[in-house]
Amino acid sequence: MAGIVLVGAQWGDEGKGKITDLLADDMDFVVRFQGGNNAGHTIIHGGRTLKLHLIPSGIMYAHITPVIGNGVVIDPKVLLEEMDELEADGLSTHRLLISCNAHLIMPYHRDLDGASEKRLGDLEIGTTRRGIGPAYQDKSTRLGLRVQDLTDEKIFRAKLEAALSEKNAILERIYDLPTYTVDEITEEYMGYAERIRPHIADTSSVVNTALAADQWVFFEGAQGTLLDIDHGTYPFVTSSSPTAGGACTGVGVGPKRIDRVLGIAKAYITRVGSGPFPTELNDETGELLTRVGGEFGTTTGRRRRCGWYDAVIIRYAVQVNGLTDLVITKLDVLSELDTIKVCVAYEYEGHRHNNLPCHQTIFHHARPIYEEVPGWREDITGCRRFEDLPKNARDYIGLLEDLAEVPVSIIAVGPSREQTIMRRWDARA
Ligand code: GDP
Ligand code: IMO
Ligand code: MG
Repeated sequence: MAGIVLVGAQWGDEGKGKITDLLADDMDFVVRFQGGNNAGHTIIHGGRTLKLHLIPSGIMYAHITPVIGNGVVIDPKVLLEEMDELEADGLSTHRLLISCNAHLIMPYHRDLDGASEKRLGDLEIGTTRRGIGPAYQDKSTRLGLRVQDLTDEKIFRAKLEAALSEKNAILERIYDLPTYTVDEITEEYMGYAERIRPHIADTSSVVNTALAADQWVFFEGAQGTLLDIDHGTYPFVTSSSPTAGGACTGVGVGPKRIDRVLGIAKAYITRVGSGPFPTELNDETGELLTRVGGEFGTTTGRRRRCGWYDAVIIRYAVQVNGLTDLVITKLDVLSELDTIKVCVAYEYEGHRHNNLPCHQTIFHHARPIYEEVPGWREDITGCRRFEDLPKNARDYIGLLEDLAEVPVSIIAVGPSREQTIMRRWDARA
């Protein structure tokens, strides 16, 4: 039995794609368990760069079975486009399995995502406008259409009719937007159905059978802990559960199947979209991190907000995910700095908060308490062993480890898969 979960420990874009691709070499399955095409996972493998939104990052390996679990919301148009792109690139997608229970993103979900953001004005969440929130909303209100509905036109039509009777009223009367007919959406989606049908599977059974046979399953998270609908900075979150528990519900496996939970964090921190961000840097250092780190969104191209590493957030991620290991990425981006700050606690109205405050007002106004450490001012992109790193870089990792009380097992020093230090990692040990 070997189930390994990888979750973002911050606000997403920590380098999940790169690390999943790297570790997938030792795995038999790579499974996505939540989110949708709001995710953008970058992989640089064998000289080519792939940007994946829905397809699991293990797709590069012929020995991997990539799986899209029931917890994912799927825009079939985007899925097929992504499959076409991979095939055009010489990568086979025939092994891809898609849960029969995953929900579908419908055209009106995209419209409603954009319209609701517009209505919120200054209070907008800054969503990716891919229809993610409205699709999960319909799942919860039991008005959603699922992948298995693509296999039966009669059922598809009946469910769509029920959904449209509500959605058309909202589109027309609240947002003054065009409405849809059952015929036009059915025609479009039945076109996708032909191609998706061979991939549809009972993925919970497939994954459980694999685990029972001692195969290795890697659960690839999307987004990050602070974007979690329950544990994140609500309402500035996504609409799914990117934390480790989401791997169980989003695939249909029991918690005892999970052996290891990796939390991935940048050596600093970024956020896309609105919401509180205690260590945000609106200065030259923030500019430098954006420039050197190439901090522009993989999905929407938006500039990512940058800030100092926040150990309070990581301790929280350790807690809510039960992290067994930390993976620190983008250490190389800090090489240009003379000194580096790490937020060790917050201050609010004269009180020190060592842990993430439960009350949003405190988090919104939290003032970071920093520990300042010297930088290393040296190119580290060629380092492959921990001992190769300059002393100050090793000490920086040591500090992050002490603050998290979890070992830093993998360190990334560049975007390509070789630019990685496997410090305490032997997947099959
Ligand atoms: P994900 O959403 O968590 O998969 O992360 P993204 O792919 O959206 O963003 C991470 C970006 O950082 C990508 O452009 C990666 O190629 C890049 N990256 C990953 N690890 C490193 C690293 O250690 N150093 C540098 N410089 N870039 C990295
Ligand atoms: P990966 O998997 C970073 C953010 C959006 C917005 C909020 C809600 O690449 O790390 P949504 O469209 O999900 O309703 O938007 O969540 N967001 C992400 N930020 N990385 C992501 O994915 C994200 N997916 C959603 O910017 O603030
Ligand atoms: Mg991303």
